[in-house]
Amino acid sequence: MSKITYLATKDYQDLSQQAASLIIAEIVSNPKAMICLAAGDTPIGTFGELVRMAKDQAVDFSLVTFVSLDEWVGLDGQNEGSCRSYLDKYLYKPLNIKAEQIKFFDGKALDIMGECEKMNAFLAEFGPLNLCLLGIGVNGHLGFNEPYSAFDQNAYVCDLDEITQTVGNKYFKTAYNIKQGITLGLQQILSADKIITIANGDSKQAAVTALRAGVADIACPVTLLNEHQDCYAILFV
Ligand code: F6R
Repeated sequence: MSKITYLATKDYQDLSQQAASLIIAEIVSNPKAMICLAAGDTPIGTFGELVRMAKDQAVDFSLVTFVSLDEWVGLDGQNEGSCRSYLDKYLYKPLNIKAEQIKFFDGKALDIMGECEKMNAFLAEFGPLNLCLLGIGVNGHLGFNEPYSAFDQNAYVCDLDEITQTVGNKYFKTAYNIKQGITLGLQQILSADKIITIANGDSKQAAVTALRAGVADIACPVTLLNEHQDCYAILFV
């Protein structure tokens, strides 16, 4: 039976405040937490609230480690719209996070498989993640784990689903035509101690309906959260 805790939401701002409160609570209880935060549009409000709450409550982020969830292959933080650029703009820079606190995939690395190996070695030594904040893809993907990804996967380079390629255009002013992503694997995501998933807007309706049905089905990866022991879903869909 699904153990997901669904938190009621009034609107997107409420969703963002609740997600940020859970993240702050984690950091207050474990100042050395290792956390992984999705990029994309949904968490922008959460990041804004995190920055506000961190300042209001004087929460110390200096010992937190931030692990990359995913990146578009061919892009890095210099490319507007990349995952790293989102995190830099909305979270790392406003919170003055130091470079050494951030373990992020370099989507431009010539040795892209080496990026996976580095992340896998890092998580094998220091993992699992204490907390992972996930958005939900229109097709139900988690990170860039597309429908029918392997369950037992660590970080890898994946071919992006057509839907992800099309939806992804919303992030970029330049048409990059990106066909691959680099992502934490489902195994690494699902072994996080705590997971928070957030979704907002009509485009997520089908994935959220599948999630709420309560059955894990790799055709819609977000439904695997039904098997996680400590997962919150904060949805305004
Ligand atoms: C981004 C990521 C993706 C997004 C998902 C939803 O780092 O991992 O899985 O969370 O595609 O994106 P938005 O929030 O832009 O709708």
